[in-house]
Amino acid sequence: MLTSLRAWKETLDELGVMGIVPEPPTKISPTAPTSLNVPFPIPQTANAPDSRTRLMPRTKETHVWEAPSDPVKNPPLQAVENCDTLDALHSCICQCEACPLGADRIKFVFGEGSPTARMMFVGEGPGRDEDIQGRPFVGRAGALLDKMIASIEMRRDEVYIANVVKCRPPDNRTPTPVESQTCLRYLKRQIELIQPTVLVGLGATPLRELIGIAAGITKIRGSWHIVSVAGREIPFMPTLHPAYVLRQYTKEVRKAVWEDLLAAKKKIESE
Ligand code: URA
Repeated sequence: MLTSLRAWKETLDELGVMGIVPEPPTKISPTAPTSLNVPFPIPQTANAPDSRTRLMPRTKETHVWEAPSDPVKNPPLQAVENCDTLDALHSCICQCEACPLGADRIKFVFGEGSPTARMMFVGEGPGRDEDIQGRPFVGRAGALLDKMIASIEMRRDEVYIANVVKCRPPDNRTPTPVESQTCLRYLKRQIELIQPTVLVGLGATPLRELIGIAAGITKIRGSWHIVSVAGREIPFMPTLHPAYVLRQYTKEVRKAVWEDLLAAKKKIESE
């Protein structure tokens, strides 16, 4: 009996199937975040009660992600706040791996434009082209953003362009709230250093992360909001993301974006 049980287990092992004997739970470090206080939801597969009693295909090792403690890979807030130029901020944060997006990037996309821009655009996060070039909005959406800027008689080099997250999310998915919030301290310092008169949010992600509004961007666009950065209140105009405009390339959609940008331009002219 014992022999046949052993043979059966060996067969299952060869087939890559876990036995009915409970597998030890995956070790989670005591410093790993909990679902309440952080970052990255820990995959539960290895610890789920039924996974230990059911026959399961052997899957890849559960990877538990932990924020690095190295100050180069996870710059402390104080170091970020001590940066008093955009160049210093760039050097301080460009090796960041404070969230899982950092490890998979090709290039860190800091942002670019005039360091004294009165209008600052905030997008969602780098896509493929941006990840390759290390510059924001250089793909198809970027070409449209350039046209949007030109439509209000401004130039790309007189505004500033950044994103909520500085590393490309896999498959261009929306950054998670935790990824966004981890990166937001960098964007906020950037805003503080640039001191723009207006912020223009492109799409739902900057609206959600900077204003805290999760409602649909198509409903909220075109109405002024306020972002508070280091005690300064900055008018924020949410508009549609250029990638959305490319998908819905109608006269109405383009007119809506143009009106939002015109309102932002009027605001800087009236200040
Ligand atoms: N989409 C964004 O939100 N940002 C970029 O930089 C490019 C595409």
